[in-house]
Amino acid sequence: MRTKFKQWAVDYLKESPNIFTLEDIDSLKNYLKENKCFLEIGPGKGKFILGMAKKFPNYNFLVVEISPTIAGICLKKIDEDGEIHNVKMVADDFFKLSSLLDKETFDGIFLNFSDPWPKKRHEKRRLTSKLFLESYKNILKSDGKIYFKTDNDDFFAYSRESFIENGFNIIYENLDYQVDPNVDEETEFEEKFKSHDIKIKRLILTK
Ligand SMILES: C[S@@+](CC[C@H](N)C(=O)[O-])C[C@H]1O[C@@H](n2cnc3c(N)ncnc32)[C@H](O)[C@@H]1O
Repeated sequence: MRTKFKQWAVDYLKESPNIFTLEDIDSLKNYLKENKCFLEIGPGKGKFILGMAKKFPNYNFLVVEISPTIAGICLKKIDEDGEIHNVKMVADDFFKLSSLLDKETFDGIFLNFSDPWPKKRHEKRRLTSKLFLESYKNILKSDGKIYFKTDNDDFFAYSRESFIENGFNIIYENLDYQVDPNVDEETEFEEKFKSHDIKIKRLILTK
C-alpha cells in the first residue's frame, strides 16, 4: 500500500490513548488477556477493524501496522469514531512484536490483502512465508484460526501451499468469496478489487 508520508499522522501516534509501543509490552499483554482476542496484521486505514470491533464489542482487537503514516491515519479514525473501546494498535513491524508475545495469545489472526511481494528475493517479507507461519502457530491458541483473504491468484496459490507445508489445516476455502456480514467485514482493498470485478479468494485455517 503506497501512501504519501503525512507528518500529522506520524505525530498523532504519540497522542493516541490506544497505542502500545514495544516497550509497553506488559500493558499490552494485560489487554490481550482480558477477553477473546484477535489480531489483524496490516490493517491499512482501518475500515475492517472498525466494523469488526462494533460487531463484536466483547472481543479485544489488536492491529499491528508497519507504516507510521498508515498507522496514524488508522488510529485517528478509530479514536474519532467514539463508539469503539476494543481496538489497540502497535505501530511497528509484526515480526518485532511477535517475539515479545506470549504463546497461545490469540483466538484468531486476520491477514487481509497482505502485500504479495511477487519477487522471489522478497519472499521473506510475505506474511504467509515460513517464518511468519511459525510465529502464528506460536501465538495462536490451540483452537485459534487464521482468516486469509486476497485478490491475487499467485499469492493465493503460494500462501495455500505454504500453509499446508507448514502444518495448517484448511477448514474453509472459497475462490469467489462474498463477505458474510454476520462474521466478517469488507476491507478498503476488498471494496476496490470488487469494484473491478476481481474475485476474492478466502481461506480459514487451523493449526
Ligand atoms: C495491501 S495493504 C492492505 C490493507 C488492508 N488490510 C486492506 O485489506 O484494505 C497491506 C498492509 O499491510 C502492512 N504491512 C505489511 N507488512 C507488515 C508487517 N510486517 N507488519 C505490519 N504491517 C505490515 C502495510 O503497511 C499495509 O498497510
